[in-house]
Amino acid sequence: MAKITASVYTSHVPAIGAALDTGKSKDDYWKPVFTGYDFSQQWMKDNKPDVILLVYNDHATAFSLDMIPTFAIGTAAQYKPADEGYGARPVPVVQGHPELASYIAQSVIQQDFDLTIVNKMDVDHGLTVPLSLMCGELDPVKGAWPCPVIPFAVNVVQYPVPSGQRCYNLGKAIRKAIESYDEDINVHIWGTGGMSHQLQGARAGLINREWDNAWLDKMIEDPAACAQTPHIDYVREAGSEGIELVMWLIARGAMSDVPYDDKNATDLVASSAHSVKVRHRFYHVPASNTAVGHVILENR
Ligand code: DHB
Ligand code: FE
Repeated sequence: MAKITASVYTSHVPAIGAALDTGKSKDDYWKPVFTGYDFSQQWMKDNKPDVILLVYNDHATAFSLDMIPTFAIGTAAQYKPADEGYGARPVPVVQGHPELASYIAQSVIQQDFDLTIVNKMDVDHGLTVPLSLMCGELDPVKGAWPCPVIPFAVNVVQYPVPSGQRCYNLGKAIRKAIESYDEDINVHIWGTGGMSHQLQGARAGLINREWDNAWLDKMIEDPAACAQTPHIDYVREAGSEGIELVMWLIARGAMSDVPYDDKNATDLVASSAHSVKVRHRFYHVPASNTAVGHVILENR
């Protein structure tokens, strides 16, 4: 059966992608950001997944404000890097995993989470910047990402956005789906976006180091309590774009120390007895207008 072996959490600041793509990653401003991912790039090589389920948000790129799915799963074979106004990022095309993606869609929809099925879309910085941070620089033509990626898009751009609790429960449903997929593969689930940032209005530039780190502690140690954080707390404390953090709770909810709610889940006891190991934790401010947070959790 398929197994989720680890979850990765990281911010997705577009300027990080631009710094890489224009050869600025060794500059004084950017070096401390990229140094925080040195461990992670080696870890990716040592712990190469067969598939990544990458939870991210589209920034009115593939989905315009004409049509806004709350949760959308990519079932395509390939996803091109999107042109967000300055040309597409020079990174490899993302290979999908239509079989596993379709299986997850079937299972998760039957568990009462209504996903939008996406058979064709381009992927923006929300997805490609986390891949670059974790996998390093790759030739856009000759290079390839280490494995297939299933894009899982969440609306955190236009209210109403899903609650942290709903995202956390969705993570449990995704885990149940993956663990019933009849192939011995190793899956990583990534939660991306955040941490504190606000891009517009009187509070533009807001960063809240104390709140971010307290939220990280809670997300790691007591995710069920963290999932109860109301929207207004994110907006007030972490800025309007800080709400992207609810996506991290999808990945956290899929980890094996989080019990299923489902009474029929026979592995409930064994699963909840497992604990999660923090392999890496990093925090840096600022990168552009954003606080960068990054965690790697492994299932023991
Ligand atoms: C910035 C951060 C984001 O998360 C984003 O999607 C766009 C811009 C920024 O810091 O500039
Ligand atoms: Fe964003």
